[in-house]
Amino acid sequence: MKAIVQDAYGSPSRLRLRDIELPAVQDDEVLVRVRAASVHPDVWHVVTGRPYVLRIMGAGLRRPKNPVPGTDMAGVVESAGPHATRFRPGDEVFGETLRSMQWKNGGAYAEYVAVHQDNLAPKPANVSFEQAACVPTAGLITLLNLPPGPLGNVLVNGAAGGVGGCALQIAKARGATVTGVEHTAKLDLVRKLGADYVIDYTQEDFTRRGERYDLIFDVPGNRPFAECRRALAPGGTYILIGHDHYGAEGRRVLGSLPRFVGLMTQSMFRPELPKPTRPVPDRKESMAVLAELLESGALTPIVDRAFPLAETADALRYLTEGTARGRIVVTP
Ligand SMILES: NC(=O)c1ccc[n+]([C@@H]2O[C@H](COP(=O)([O-])OP(=O)(O)OC[C@H]3O[C@@H](n4cnc5c(N)ncnc54)[C@H](OP(=O)(O)O)[C@@H]3O)[C@@H](O)[C@H]2O)c1
Repeated sequence: MKAIVQDAYGSPSRLRLRDIELPAVQDDEVLVRVRAASVHPDVWHVVTGRPYVLRIMGAGLRRPKNPVPGTDMAGVVESAGPHATRFRPGDEVFGETLRSMQWKNGGAYAEYVAVHQDNLAPKPANVSFEQAACVPTAGLITLLNLPPGPLGNVLVNGAAGGVGGCALQIAKARGATVTGVEHTAKLDLVRKLGADYVIDYTQEDFTRRGERYDLIFDVPGNRPFAECRRALAPGGTYILIGHDHYGAEGRRVLGSLPRFVGLMTQSMFRPELPKPTRPVPDRKESMAVLAELLESGALTPIVDRAFPLAETADALRYLTEGTARGRIVVTP
């Protein structure tokens, strides 16, 4: 099969399209013929090997253990292992290829990928393969972080991005009033995604407007928690997703990890911060929730551009420019 291959960590320009063996399919996995795979910041992290800590967290010390990047995809089941009874050849599915943490190559930038059946959900017929491929990890991280119960007045910082767009739409589907913060050029997209109000971060600082929110869902994390707290209503919650902006922020070796450790420590005495001990939702159930949100139209990813698989390096360059108005995918 044709696949994008990464021999070493470094610039995306080193990625090559090659012919390689089909992946081995374990008993509880299905072989998916990939129709679209999304291009998101975590893929950039593993391609470049930065921050360095990801190399000791399982991605591979000297070079990536799995040479084929990509984690999120949608496609058609080609065959199923003997214990993978949830799906049959011909089923249209979407999901994330990795079972555990994100900072590893997942093999999605290829014509075929083997995926554990519980990582997958049936792709709703009303969305394209390109749209469905944009949802898995951004949707899963959103479901993991949105608190249960009524959300009230929500601010999403970085609302046009992969994770921010999911958070905006899922919060709206749960009845929240949502304000989206973004760059001037992306405010139309934030409105299109369903925001009730928008704030242009080049003109205004959301922490100084006097408005109070029950939940601040902060993707870029460009303001310290101490400042964001000013914009929290009594009993409100602050969630940091974090974004290293392709090495421009975060530390070279540890990335944003020290900041997360700092917030986790503060969560012991700050009720605004979620406790690290909160339960992690079941993957299979969460994928079913995302499929329902897509099917109902509550979650409608907007795709800016699809690149042919051979042009994956260009797709990653386009991602880091930050000018896309919506998601980016590659198609084999
Ligand atoms: N997408 C996924 O599937 C996924 C899954 C799990 C984890 N993550 C992690 O989550 C983080 C975010 O990913 P993403 O896909 O959402 O990234 P993204 O698509 O680049 O979104 C980030 C958004 O924040 C905006 N932004 C930048 N600076 C801002 C500021 N000062 N105020 C308000 N908005 C600002 C960016 O717009 P401008 O650039 O125009 O300013 C961009 O639209 C990454 O660190 C990634 O590793 C992503």
